[in-house]
Amino acid sequence: MQIIAVNEYLANKKRLVDEALRDFFSQKNSLFDVMYYSVDSGKRIRPILAIAGYEVCGGEDTGVIMPVACGLELIHTYSLIHDDLPAMDNDDFRRGKASAHKKFDEATAILSGDGLFAYAFELFCKGDSHASERLEVIRSVSQAVGPKGVVYGQMLDISDMKRQPNMLRNIHLNKTAKFIAVAIKVGAIMACAKKTVVDKLYRAGLCLGMLFQYTDDILDVVGKKSDLGKTPGKDQASGKLTAPAVYGLCGARFRAQRYADRTKSRFRELGSEFEFFCEMTDFVLNRSF
Ligand code: IPE
Ligand code: IPE
Ligand code: MG
Ligand code: MG
Ligand code: MG
Repeated sequence: MQIIAVNEYLANKKRLVDEALRDFFSQKNSLFDVMYYSVDSGKRIRPILAIAGYEVCGGEDTGVIMPVACGLELIHTYSLIHDDLPAMDNDDFRRGKASAHKKFDEATAILSGDGLFAYAFELFCKGDSHASERLEVIRSVSQAVGPKGVVYGQMLDISDMKRQPNMLRNIHLNKTAKFIAVAIKVGAIMACAKKTVVDKLYRAGLCLGMLFQYTDDILDVVGKKSDLGKTPGKDQASGKLTAPAVYGLCGARFRAQRYADRTKSRFRELGSEFEFFCEMTDFVLNRSF
């Protein structure tokens, strides 16, 4: 993969992902219009990580990776719609506009999330090639986003629990890190990378995912609504177990830096062609949105 500045790479790939997503939502029924309302906009970090994992491992066919990458974005969007519901975080602003349940109603938002979750798996199966790799993608993603991953993390997140570092780690690992890690992993799988590489990328991705949730928690304290497209200050107001809540803002920043260092050393162990992911790590560490 040609090494270009991470910001340029992110902008280029985001444009391609946005275009592909538009195509996957064109000329369908009215539920697709509702789902697309929430899909439209977002940083597209997970699909971009999948594309980067694919390209770094030698994959060259955008048509092979793009539906898989977009499927990840649909699952992510479903998780945001449900995360914002009054029964969960009760957030009425997301991606710079009204959350789905505010724009429509709660029942429609729930169904829109359900639809996105299922439609993602249709996209994972789109295409005639790579049958065994697709099975591995479906196995890995369902493990990362279901009751052993995101859904479990979300369950812990809303439960009443003590302020313990281990619980914080458990929440971050499950609700965010496994999904970020599996995004890179599916890219490598679709590029037919060796299992040892896939496994090492997943491990590095877990570390990147922990960092991602640390910076999300920090931005909830220090970020601006106009940058974030969501309402800051909600975590403390809701008594959430976050990195700043457990370690304080300075402690959370210190640990975020430590996660970034660890993430980069894991990617570097894989070889110089994985350097892109180190730049990506710095992007996640320093992000303001
Ligand atoms: C927000 O994810 C939810 C977390 C897991 C922290 P993103 O920060 O990737 O949100 P979008 O996709 O850019 O809206
Ligand atoms: C949510 O974490 C992670 C998901 C699985 C959606 P947060 O609740 O912190 O995400 P934001 O801050 O609302 O985007
Ligand atoms: Mg939440
Ligand atoms: Mg939330
Ligand atoms: Mg948050």
